[in-house]
Amino acid sequence: MKNILPTPLQYKKNKLTFDGISLERIASKHPTPFYLYSKKTLDFYYKSFYQSAIKEGIPSPLVCYAVKANSNIEVLKRLKKLGSGADVVSVGELKKALKAGIDPQKIVFSGVAKSATEILFALKCHKRGIYSFNVESIEELELINLLAKKEKRIARISFRLNPQVNVKTHKHISTGNKTHKFGLLKSDILEALAVPSFWSNTTLVGLSMHIGSQLTDLKATVVAIKELANLAHSIEIPLEFLDIGGGLGIDYTIEERNKLASITQYMQTASEALTKFYYSKTDHCPRIVFEPGRIIVGKMGVLVSRVVRTKTSEDCHFTIIDAGMNDLIRPALYDAYHEVLAVNQSKKMILTDIVGPICETSDCFGSKRKLPALKSGDLVVIDNAGAYGHTMASRYNERDIAQEVLI
Ligand code: LLP
Repeated sequence: MKNILPTPLQYKKNKLTFDGISLERIASKHPTPFYLYSKKTLDFYYKSFYQSAIKEGIPSPLVCYAVKANSNIEVLKRLKKLGSGADVVSVGELKKALKAGIDPQKIVFSGVAKSATEILFALKCHKRGIYSFNVESIEELELINLLAKKEKRIARISFRLNPQVNVKTHKHISTGNKTHKFGLLKSDILEALAVPSFWSNTTLVGLSMHIGSQLTDLKATVVAIKELANLAHSIEIPLEFLDIGGGLGIDYTIEERNKLASITQYMQTASEALTKFYYSKTDHCPRIVFEPGRIIVGKMGVLVSRVVRTKTSEDCHFTIIDAGMNDLIRPALYDAYHEVLAVNQSKKMILTDIVGPICETSDCFGSKRKLPALKSGDLVVIDNAGAYGHTMASRYNERDIAQEVLI
């Protein structure tokens, strides 16, 4: 099924535009490399996601945007304006979400290594604390209870279930099996519920899961929802929410475009699974929390870069650009595919390796790509870089962190 996801990029008269504006013009105002984001596209994906949840009858959906995907303050402010909450995994992300004005009552705190300082900050950031600590270990539960007791507060918690499912994605971003460090097994959760000393200053308000990222099919999601629902049935406590995590993928390649589950298919599948495995068997109606990252911001952003020079080694041709793996690490880290587009189209195409300036062979954005023969100063755009681009950037080789520009 063809699933064309909107993007801000479009060629007009052989020149690339971004939200209708000439990329050459935008690039004349900013030093390369820089990230460029489209507010219009951001709005489109957030609204599509939320409205699709409503349309499919998901009860009181709460979108807790996964801040790790893109933590630009203007992006967060915009999402707050659209009604989003946040899924954070560090006190830094929590502070940024609060700075953007996101309601603490819409913030869930995930992550396997929440420290005492981070837990205390989250407990005290509002008189009611945050919406939920998504607890990933028994030790963490004990610590939250202890700190809440000291602060004379009640911490709202959910257990992150490890549903033991295998997902079809890169092994580095698969998180739902017992060999992964994430979440708790059902048996451990049920055991913890029976220990009264864990619960003097904590209250169980939900259950959560997150099985992996860049999910293109939904089979594992259905199995995981079933596991989450079974656990919810085994717990007598009435829950306020079930959090089904993030993970919905985007099309980086043409093959992905043809098989990718759309937002609508995702919501339909989730709604059907939740009804079949949970709502149809109980009178209770907890709300559904989502933690999407990539699907909200992935398509709104590109990395804009200029060619430094070209070179050949016998039959190998290299186009060396000023963006490197320190700016966008996904190709080097996950062998991820990102389309590289020349800002000026030309009929004369060559096969070239697009490489960066970093002293590593993995600093390569694409091998044997069909592109115009470019020269020093020409502009290129690396597409679909709105998610896990800038947030994963580093200063490797003492390079500056690329600027971000929001249009
Ligand atoms: N919730 C939790 C608990 C997560 O760990 C993540 C992502 C999300 C939600 C959001 O997942 P999304 O909807 O974006 O798939 N750096 C990798 C992706 C790592 C994802 C980590 N967790 C990449 O560039 O592909």
